[in-house]
Amino acid sequence: MLDARPLHPLFGAELSGVDLRAPLGAADAQAIRDAFNRYGVCVFHNDPPLTNQQHIALSYVLGPLDNRPVFKIAGRVKRIQEPEIQDVGNLNADGSLMMPDSRIAAFRRGDRLWHSDMSFHENRATFSLLSAHSVPPEGGDTLFADMRVAYAALPDSMKARIDGLVCEHSIWWSRALANYPTPTQEELDSRPPVHHPLVFTHAGSGRKTVYLSSHISHVVGMPMEEGRALIRELMAHATQPEFVHAHRWRVGDVVAWDNLASMHRGTEFADTVHPRDMRRTTLREHAA
Ligand code: OGA
Ligand code: MN
Repeated sequence: MLDARPLHPLFGAELSGVDLRAPLGAADAQAIRDAFNRYGVCVFHNDPPLTNQQHIALSYVLGPLDNRPVFKIAGRVKRIQEPEIQDVGNLNADGSLMMPDSRIAAFRRGDRLWHSDMSFHENRATFSLLSAHSVPPEGGDTLFADMRVAYAALPDSMKARIDGLVCEHSIWWSRALANYPTPTQEELDSRPPVHHPLVFTHAGSGRKTVYLSSHISHVVGMPMEEGRALIRELMAHATQPEFVHAHRWRVGDVVAWDNLASMHRGTEFADTVHPRDMRRTTLREHAA
């Protein structure tokens, strides 16, 4: 029986009572999906961590999973071979720590801006499942905020102003904000920008939500500076301290978040001293 203990007054739950390593029955899978839809961010403690195969099997049961690369990073050598898993840690393929000025480390630092995973893709990400295989002794928490909470707390005048707006999202925009070096033409071609509505009704809960992300470069049809100022204002509102939950990682944790109902970001840690081995699967709105 799945048990849920709230993590924060406004969203999030710690889930227990289901063994994520065993094949999930239909009832448990549905209970987990219901909890994800309700709470937005869900934490499971596992000891030891799920193997890559268990992580992938769990993900396939919960929703469509795309196993094709979503963009190209020049010069990247993969450490994890399973195509369903995104390596979001700080380790090179040989197990050494990434040099902070390497292209891939710079790319990963973009994860420290508030974002929704893969909002730069036309097939939006639903749930991300991030599994901790090694964690630093301090720092490296992941912060979360629920965008349905953020939307509900907007003044009516702002709700009216943003209704019907469409935003352009690009992975290369958020990387530029994070000082990633100028993308190569091949990188740019691997992932062109996309458009998504700023406000929509979250299918899993029926609540209205605001689809914010540092991948947003501008509001379509609005003067650049006006649109960017609007997005900055909404981001600041959505991530005010009372709306944020910080997850302190333990090895074995799997945190699942709904990218269509929340934003998240990584935080600083001594990344040239400590390994942080984090592996993610990403479920999608539509089967590929
Ligand atoms: C991610 C991500 C942040 C972190 O995996 O999508 O943004 O703290 N991670 O590792
Ligand atoms: Mn992310």
